[in-house]
Amino acid sequence: MDGQLHVDRPQIAILDFGSQYSHLIARRVRELHVFCELYSCLVKGEVLRKNQVVGIILSGGPNSVYAKDSPHVDKDVWQYVAEKQIPVMGICYGLQEMSHTFGANVAPGDKREFGKAMVRRAPGHEEDADILFKGLPAEFQVWMSHGDKLHTLPEGFINIGVSPNSEHAAIAHLEKKMFGLQFHPEVTHSVGGLTILRNFVVGVVGAPTDWDMADIAQEFIEAVREKVGPTGKVVGAVSGGVDSSVAAVLLNKAIGSRFHAVMVDSGCLRQDEGAQCVERLKNRLGINLHLVQAQDRFLDKLAGVSDPEAKRKIIGNTFIEVFDEESHRIGECDFLLQGTLYPDVIESISYKGPSATIKSHHNVGGLPERMKLQLIEPLRELFKDEVRALGMALGLDEESVWRHPFPGPGLAIRIIGDVTREKLDILRQADVILLDELHKHGIYREIAQAFCVLTNCKSVGVMGDGRTYEFLCGIRLVSSTDYMTADWYRIDWEILARISTRIINEVQGINRCAYDCSSKPPATIEWE
Ligand code: XMP
Repeated sequence: MDGQLHVDRPQIAILDFGSQYSHLIARRVRELHVFCELYSCLVKGEVLRKNQVVGIILSGGPNSVYAKDSPHVDKDVWQYVAEKQIPVMGICYGLQEMSHTFGANVAPGDKREFGKAMVRRAPGHEEDADILFKGLPAEFQVWMSHGDKLHTLPEGFINIGVSPNSEHAAIAHLEKKMFGLQFHPEVTHSVGGLTILRNFVVGVVGAPTDWDMADIAQEFIEAVREKVGPTGKVVGAVSGGVDSSVAAVLLNKAIGSRFHAVMVDSGCLRQDEGAQCVERLKNRLGINLHLVQAQDRFLDKLAGVSDPEAKRKIIGNTFIEVFDEESHRIGECDFLLQGTLYPDVIESISYKGPSATIKSHHNVGGLPERMKLQLIEPLRELFKDEVRALGMALGLDEESVWRHPFPGPGLAIRIIGDVTREKLDILRQADVILLDELHKHGIYREIAQAFCVLTNCKSVGVMGDGRTYEFLCGIRLVSSTDYMTADWYRIDWEILARISTRIINEVQGINRCAYDCSSKPPATIEWE
């Protein structure tokens, strides 16, 4: 079923040849307030025609253009480019693909070039080079990662940039408005990379710079209204997290009480989470929210289960049952709301295909097959920061918008081993202290995710004159932008000392804290 709410505006199309940086190109273009979408490199010309594509960026990729099975731009895409004089910029493999298509000799270089390099404008072509490099100094640092390179220029192209190892670090066909970069402007190591992208998408293409959530929130509301129709009803799960809260506010603005938000209290939520969510979403924003108290049902099923995957499966399946029952109580609905974001969409269209499953993520993934409802995914075009901006534009409070993500299985995967009511209670108290201190010291927002873990390990301590034998509490704070990779947060030791002292003193059941200093990979953010 097609859940796509189509964004109807001129766009830059990024054709993904499988580079690990492709999604970053999309991020950067969006940062310039230009709407763009990522497509498989094998996309057909008709799709680009239909979607108002005004400029194309060809990404990098791991292949060699001259190899037998390497991917190539569809002929009809080049036809469209020629007909409409669509500007094209190729990055790394993209440059080689474009050059190969237009008759250049692409072959292995003498050595692989990886890392930082200095690029300058090609002598004699300084003015032409400025089409892309305007605003950059005479020499600027870029990030290279390639084995193949151009040995000759394609027909009609000139050289506009050189580096010590690449005499064709940047090339251009001025008449056709085609450009190629051997380096990656989308990564932060390419100082001025954003300027180059701006010079292309705004300067050369002239794409509109009106992709700003504050201005287009109304368009999102209209799109939902159109999709749902005048009488349609929508049901959706909310967790209190930013994505589902923003989606809920959006649906509420679009169709009012025809949107039914369901929150399931699994007994594994943080302190007062259900009540707070009711206060924020129902009382303050008027969302038609049903809070289902299903603590016993979840905790009874979890009793005695220690295996992480088993716990995840129990919670996922029970959630689906409870949600399904509640939707039946609500009555006939036509749509199921899903908070899919653009990174999920990118993952599914990626030329490389989806990556291996490390943990079976629980959100509402299993619902669609069971409920036979049409999907509505109003946030599927947005990156996380855009979801936040949209939330603010729709009047959601800052606290909701800036909340750290919280996993669907909740505290159950932050208690190592079996989950009991007593352990949940201990962990909740520790968690409240941690978050309280982070807020008090003004560092909550600079941390991507922060939580306590109740390890299955007990250790000896001394309290007053007595011996204690209580749990070790793990403290996990990470820095991350996309949660695919993460680093442990370098917290000020005084703050850490305060957190640890308070947890040990105030939470009965914990007598020791340990700070988790592992990055992802090889660790993951959650412990289970
Ligand atoms: P990991 O532990 O895989 O977590 O590094 C990456 C991000 O995903 C969150 N997470 C989940 N979110 N359902 C969710 O909705 C889940 O089952 C789940 N497991 C992990 C985790 O909190 C982190 O933000």
